Amino acid sequence: MLAIRSQFLNHFNYVPSLAVKSPGRINLIGEHTDYNHGFVLPAAIDKYIEVAIGKRTDGAIHMVALDLGQTIILPIHHLAPHATPWVNYLIGVVHQVLEKTNTKDDLIKGFDICIQGNIPSGAGLSSSAAVECAVIFALNELYQLQLTKMEMALMAQKAEHEFAGVKCGLMDMFASLHGQKNKVIFLDCASLAYAYYPLELKDYSIVLFDTQIKHALASSEYNTRRLECEQGLKMIQEKYPAVKIFRDINTEQVEDCLGSNKALTGVKIYQRCKYVVEEIERVQLAVKDLTAGDMQAFGKKMFATHEGLSKLYEVSCPELDFLVEAVKQNEHVIGARMMGGGFGGCTINIIKNSELDLISKELAAAYLKKYQKPLVVYPISIEEGTHLLA
Ligand code: GLA
Repeated sequence: MLAIRSQFLNHFNYVPSLAVKSPGRINLIGEHTDYNHGFVLPAAIDKYIEVAIGKRTDGAIHMVALDLGQTIILPIHHLAPHATPWVNYLIGVVHQVLEKTNTKDDLIKGFDICIQGNIPSGAGLSSSAAVECAVIFALNELYQLQLTKMEMALMAQKAEHEFAGVKCGLMDMFASLHGQKNKVIFLDCASLAYAYYPLELKDYSIVLFDTQIKHALASSEYNTRRLECEQGLKMIQEKYPAVKIFRDINTEQVEDCLGSNKALTGVKIYQRCKYVVEEIERVQLAVKDLTAGDMQAFGKKMFATHEGLSKLYEVSCPELDFLVEAVKQNEHVIGARMMGGGFGGCTINIIKNSELDLISKELAAAYLKKYQKPLVVYPISIEEGTHLLA
């Protein structure tokens, strides 16, 4: 990749005001818990989106997606969801920024922007959130908007809801913006309090295995899961009015309200809520394992999360299940599970360094034999969150 500043200069014939780098994310544990007021444990990674930006004054946005070789020009006002998906991640956050700033004065009168990156799309690494965070961070710097990282994360989340149509939680944007090198972030998705934990894996590494499956169902099923959880929560609240959010629920209450009368309440709603309540509990215990340095116990919880996501939450797919099952009995694999929204994308694995090559090779061969697809392997390092490029 040619440096983003040079790319910008080539396209627009002037030097950009600034450039920003914004990472994708992994999540060690706490899946589908962010929009259910649970906890998550993500980190920013060494795959990223870069943007370079410069001001215009003619009321237009000129957007260049370098990897796709596409340029789109739109007037900055009256932005609405666009037919080209990547454009929505960009104008979605512009819309949020304008709502917040341009009511006061006509501060932002257009800009030029170039985007490129190396986050595989549809792999569950949050390339869309990285684009949103890169753009909002760049606008914040360019126009001195004084937005905090948390404000930017919340605005990017809203952009995803309104322009991409996915009712996602906060995890992806939060992680991209707040990442720190070699640290995972424990985020309380109810209070938005967070804490950093060093991830010391010693002889082990985090490795992603990419199924190469990109399910078109992902966003519609995602929104359905969210609705099912909301319905389940309401049913539990009818009997237990003190319950405000999922965190207040224990497994007995799930059984009592949803498990005992599945014919009436629906087996799916029961399964979804059971998973969420168990996962919220599991993440809190996993963080204790982490601080105690007990990665074996931590890894077991990752396998348990996968089981729940596959059987109860039903967001896995045969390929993801295959990859997790294949490493489960391997003594050199501490933990593995599907990661992100599901229906394809990657599994996240903690694997002994000395065995990594062999395990990856054997798994790739088995995967190719079973699904006639290559397995893509990404060793991952944990990096700093969204920042200005020097
Ligand atoms: C996607 C969403 C996140 C989160 C995960 C599942 O990545 O964008 O908000 O819900 O799925 O944990």
